Amino acid sequence: MSTTHASPGAEPTTPLSQIDWDHIEFYVGNAKQASQFYQCTFGFEQIAYAGPETGLHDRASYVLEQNDLRFVLTSSLRGDDAIAEHVKLHGDGVRDVAIRVNDTRGAWEMAVRGGARSILDPIERRDDRGRVVVATIATYGDTLHTFVQRDGYEGAFLPGFVPARKAYGRSSKPHLLAIDHCVGNVGWGEMDAWGEFYQKVFGFSQLISFDDKDISTEYTALKSKVMSDARHRVKFPINEPAHGKKKSQIEEYLDFYRGSGVQHIAIRTDDIVATIDALRENGVEFLDTPDSYYDDLRARVGEIDENIDVLHQRKILVDRDDQGYMLQIFTKPLQDRPTVFFEIIQRKGSLSFGKGNFKALFVSIEKEQEKRGTL
Ligand code: FE2
Repeated sequence: MSTTHASPGAEPTTPLSQIDWDHIEFYVGNAKQASQFYQCTFGFEQIAYAGPETGLHDRASYVLEQNDLRFVLTSSLRGDDAIAEHVKLHGDGVRDVAIRVNDTRGAWEMAVRGGARSILDPIERRDDRGRVVVATIATYGDTLHTFVQRDGYEGAFLPGFVPARKAYGRSSKPHLLAIDHCVGNVGWGEMDAWGEFYQKVFGFSQLISFDDKDISTEYTALKSKVMSDARHRVKFPINEPAHGKKKSQIEEYLDFYRGSGVQHIAIRTDDIVATIDALRENGVEFLDTPDSYYDDLRARVGEIDENIDVLHQRKILVDRDDQGYMLQIFTKPLQDRPTVFFEIIQRKGSLSFGKGNFKALFVSIEKEQEKRGTL
């Protein structure tokens, strides 16, 4: 493993240095049902809607919110358009990881100069609640990044959407706060090129890299590098498969997703124990962790605020680095294809990505792969 701690503030200011997450859009087969699923299980509230009733005739989009998290679920109404093609090829998956910027035109110009392919040139969208400026570039696979400049826009989400508040009050409420990082899986030998893409296009630097010696079990392996903005707000780890005795979990993803795409979205919480209890009660399924993981946990991570038995009962993982520690757990895939999943993470000072947990995590993923007959 190699770690580079970019010092915040040392980088020159660019249109892409003061950025944050805006929203993540999923293309799904049935957005109406998916919207209800994410509300009932993960505790989101619906805040906005766009579809035929609002003058949009090819699609329906539901906007869900929880604290600083915003997800958009979109389905095709026609079956012969790009949304339907995306779902046919990839199954339900992430189409757009949208980034909040102060200057969309500047961000887009910098990205295109850095080699990004433009999907949508900067355009102003306006309604009676204000204006936004958006532009879109392509990244790995069929995944996009839309730049969103909000300029104090006061509408429910974006022009074209109407407020549509709905909350299913029956579910237990987790404390999901914001996106921590968003991980992409790319093909064999493509990780370095996509790391360079985020360096040239976004001005990011490499925070950490892991090679197959760090991330392998007896059977499967992968390589990973984490690209980050200088403020460590927006972090994009990139994985590629590596050779092991059996099929890498990244390869399994690439087979089922039919190419590169978003593997997992890590969501921050300030109370992982209460959050996991609420999510389990709502029916969210998590990866199991072998009991032996907890035998020497205290020796590995030292003193922590949480009771280890409480973490053990919930199968929450812990990892420490020189700045603190973090707690994390991974859901099972969120759709039938073993592709996108969530990570729930609570950071207590640590900037780490859970290197100390990779082994336990992969043993658990391999058990699931074995059940699917894809190991
Ligand atoms: Fe992660």
